Amino acid sequence: MRFSYVCSDCGTRFETEQIMYRCTSCGSDTDGTFQRGNLIVELNREDLASLKKQDHVNAFDFFPYTVPDPQAYPVGNTPLASSPRLSSQYGLPNLSFKLDGQNPSGSFKDRASQLIAAQAAASGEQKVVLASTGNAGSAMACAGAAYGLEIVLFVPATAPVNKLMQSVLYGAHVIPVAGTYDDAFALSIAYTNEFGGINRNTAYNPMTIEGKKSVSIELFEQMGRSIPDVVYVPVGDGVIISGVYKGFSDLKAAGIIDRVPALVCVQSSGSDAISKAWSSGAYEPLREAVTTADSISVSSPANGRMAVRYINESSGWATVITDEQISEAQLELASQAGMFAEPAAAAAWAGVKADRQKIVDRFGSDAEVVVLLTGTGFKDMKAFDGKVSIPPSIEPTVAAMRSYIAAL
Ligand SMILES: Cc1ncc(COP(=O)(O)O)c(C=O)c1O
Repeated sequence: MRFSYVCSDCGTRFETEQIMYRCTSCGSDTDGTFQRGNLIVELNREDLASLKKQDHVNAFDFFPYTVPDPQAYPVGNTPLASSPRLSSQYGLPNLSFKLDGQNPSGSFKDRASQLIAAQAAASGEQKVVLASTGNAGSAMACAGAAYGLEIVLFVPATAPVNKLMQSVLYGAHVIPVAGTYDDAFALSIAYTNEFGGINRNTAYNPMTIEGKKSVSIELFEQMGRSIPDVVYVPVGDGVIISGVYKGFSDLKAAGIIDRVPALVCVQSSGSDAISKAWSSGAYEPLREAVTTADSISVSSPANGRMAVRYINESSGWATVITDEQISEAQLELASQAGMFAEPAAAAAWAGVKADRQKIVDRFGSDAEVVVLLTGTGFKDMKAFDGKVSIPPSIEPTVAAMRSYIAAL
């Protein structure tokens, strides 16, 4: 599909299909708060309108690039699960969970990496460079293994070991940096400038937002060509929630739907820069983000301004929960619904639990609620340290089994 770019902050248009990163008019302004100048990929109106005639759409119809050999890296089309137990416990009969932990590398981030791989193929690039604290890096490394791309990944040396190990196993050049994510980010840009390659840094490359929109187009088809009332999204940098908005907004621009569902930004109280900006209107970064949900631990959100704009445009809101509520939600999803989600993903469910009355007041007791479970629990087994333990073993005898059962 034909496309151009428009700056989310100053509105400057760029009529080009060349690879672009930030807005060249305002993208270097930082004014000490949230980053400005993130670009929106704008699809050609005529091309979009032609999709209205189709009786079925899929995300690829809305992509600016053709995805090479999709089965080589089968991203998306993740299940939309129900949970009869949680539905009845919380009185929300139309509750569904999008199981994005079932993507190839175990997280939602595969959606962005899929489109970046398509961008690489379209521009004849063999190398993709990025900075990541975890899931984006392992997703891009996974895509690199699938398509034979060279992946150069700068990570803060303190990033969670499971996610780093995954990237090493997929064959990426993993370069741990003795510094912060911002240091890794700066080095990745310096590397791209000097040694080439496409830079996939989240939000910096607008195709990361664009790739994530696939979830909304899937939801529309999975829900029988209709949209939910509200979607709960765990938020750190604000890229996933912006991608979710973009998918619905493209469906609307194509004339296929007539409204965008309310998007709820769920954050931990120790990492709530976007929620604060949404409620106060002031774009203040946090001094230090502190949450056990590492994937949503962000002090200065890379896509914060766009996220706040889209929360408002969708008539959504921000809900802040504690790390304890996240942990409780994670254990409840596992034990009551058979859904194993990493802490960041479980935050979305914690948000629904906290908002239950608000949802019913606003949309009625038959509200269609979707919870994005963005990553699998296997990504972060350390989250269970001190909370869950494996029972001690018993001798392989019937007597030992009987005394074990008797002691329960
Ligand atoms: C599993 C998971 N959930 C949620 C998020 C938050 O997404 P964003 O930083 O785009 O807001 C991330 C980002 O790393 C993630 O990996």
